Amino acid sequence: MTATTPTSNLLAAPLDVPSAIAQRRAIKSFKPDAIAPDLLKRLIELTVAAPSSWNLQDWRIILVQDSSQKAALAEAAWNQEQISQAPVTFVFAADATAWQKDRTPVFEQALQNEAWTPQSVEYFKSQVPQFQTALGDKNREYAIKDAMIAATHLMLAAESLGLSTCPMNGWLEDKVKEVIGATDDPNLAIALLVPVGYAEESRPNPGRLPFHYNVFVDRVSNPYTG
Ligand SMILES: Cc1cc2nc3c(=O)[nH]c(=O)nc-3n(C[C@H](O)[C@H](O)[C@H](O)COP(=O)(O)O)c2cc1C
Repeated sequence: MTATTPTSNLLAAPLDVPSAIAQRRAIKSFKPDAIAPDLLKRLIELTVAAPSSWNLQDWRIILVQDSSQKAALAEAAWNQEQISQAPVTFVFAADATAWQKDRTPVFEQALQNEAWTPQSVEYFKSQVPQFQTALGDKNREYAIKDAMIAATHLMLAAESLGLSTCPMNGWLEDKVKEVIGATDDPNLAIALLVPVGYAEESRPNPGRLPFHYNVFVDRVSNPYTG
């Protein structure tokens, strides 16, 4: 199959959030069709609109688009074909040391938007290092949480805008890091791979457990029954 010329569908009415949640499936087979640049940019904007701890935005998102890069990434993921088929795979990495880096653009925007006062900016500047230092080994886990929320934003935004995705945890971290050129960075963890593109298949909903399996009220001994 040959790829078609990318045309944006940004003008089409996006699906509302509940519909996007209900309709989304983990798609294993993609058309080779490219994603129009303005649509890809919109997806990125909606992805990085995700919340994060202390607004650290400590995800590092690598868009793997080049065909030889995609082939190498697919190989790092046990040759799962979604990655070689989809026009782009978002690699969600997490930087456990992001809190040590310059965040001036965030402070400027928060002040300009009157989201934070100058006092709260000073508070964050002093509290974040204390909090993150106390986390110790959990810095990695906390950064991965933020990256996973951003990945969820991507999956729902993509569905809403007519695209499909597949969340993927089946890969070897060292090999993925090799592909994205991060072998030398021990503080960069890989959270999730998400191929994005136009579905070649429609998949039925595999279903969810009844609430009483995994939803509780007040205590884990008290199942929620609806
Ligand atoms: C963290 C995570 C990792 C996953 N890893 C893979 C994967 O490596 N390969 C794959 O084909 N699907 C993967 N899936 C997709 C799940 O199998 C799928 O989400 C689940 O069966 C429910 O189907 P649905 O997403 O269509 O509702 C993963 C899903 C999640 C949330």
